[in-house]
Amino acid sequence: LENGLGATPPMGWNSWNHFFCDIDETIIKETADALVSTGLAELGYKYVNIDDCWAEQERDSEGYLVPNKKTFPSGIKALADYIHSKGLKLGIYSDAGFQTCSNKMPGSLGYEQKDADTFASWDIDYLKYDNCNNNYTEPTKRYPPMSQALIKTGRPIFFSLCEWGEMHPAFWGAKLGNSWRTTTDISDTWDSMISRADQNEGYANFSGPGGWNDPDMLEVGNGGMSHKQYVVHFSLWAISKAPLLIGCDVRDLSNNTYKILGNKEVIDVNQDPLGIQAKKVKKDGDLEVWAGPLSKSRTVVLLLNRSVIRSTISAYWADLGVPADTSMEVRDLWKHKTYDKAFKNQLKFTMEGRSCRMFILKPLS
Ligand code: GLA
Repeated sequence: LENGLGATPPMGWNSWNHFFCDIDETIIKETADALVSTGLAELGYKYVNIDDCWAEQERDSEGYLVPNKKTFPSGIKALADYIHSKGLKLGIYSDAGFQTCSNKMPGSLGYEQKDADTFASWDIDYLKYDNCNNNYTEPTKRYPPMSQALIKTGRPIFFSLCEWGEMHPAFWGAKLGNSWRTTTDISDTWDSMISRADQNEGYANFSGPGGWNDPDMLEVGNGGMSHKQYVVHFSLWAISKAPLLIGCDVRDLSNNTYKILGNKEVIDVNQDPLGIQAKKVKKDGDLEVWAGPLSKSRTVVLLLNRSVIRSTISAYWADLGVPADTSMEVRDLWKHKTYDKAFKNQLKFTMEGRSCRMFILKPLS
């Protein structure tokens, strides 16, 4: 969408994966504080996104959405002021239907301009727009009115389409939004995570600056996967140029979780200005190589062992689309070290089950 936003994938936090409907303004404010105090905000996590369940069940007598009086008593504008005072941005959620997916608040179908104007008047910076409880018309009919309504407000609002990939929004989303979900909801398990990365990979050619494939939000830190599996999760999202929306409770961040979410070298891959989504370039059963180009003639490579046993994976330059015999400097983005020796034609490493190694290759001129 040509609203000047999303030159690189959005980074921030969203309430859903950890809190679901149990949210209130205190959680949102404390999350903003924590993003700043942990240093995550400084690393780029700027959007603080409220998901479903922030509004009263009914609109007011004039048809306006009303923030939930118990959980958001100060209103959304006051919250936006607070978030902005911290140098962060505020996101909100609605739905291209009559009610949102929780059935706990109204959707925006038929109220697109009114709600867009409301969001703009509250100084909202990001809208996630879901697809539940609609009138069974095509999403390609129900998403454009909100896209246009947001543009009409004159406020730059990042527009995130949440259509779950069923009607292949990667094929039509770029005109309407800054990101589009390519999958149904993630859950905090290895199978759920890895299958979303796979499905999202199929749309790699449709992603780029201004409009990104979205395999759903991060589960890192929520406890359902091992540390190594969360490293795989974050690495895959980074190379896939996915939105990096933290889904855990950042007020209570373990060191291990911080080591993942705060890995600047991996974040830099996600935020690379070229904005090219990496692809699966080689597959031998459960042993895979994912790779893609980065700026400055560099290449990012992920060796991914999906099996449960220790295995060796090799990637030849031909697999990576790199000319044979190119001498490469190799940087390991999780060990934070550059190898002394140059690599001449392949990377070959042994790793534990369900783990990965992530590298940047840079030609030695
Ligand atoms: C859908 C979306 C989720 C979340 C919930 C909220 O399932 O895909 O990401 O927003 O709705 O109800």
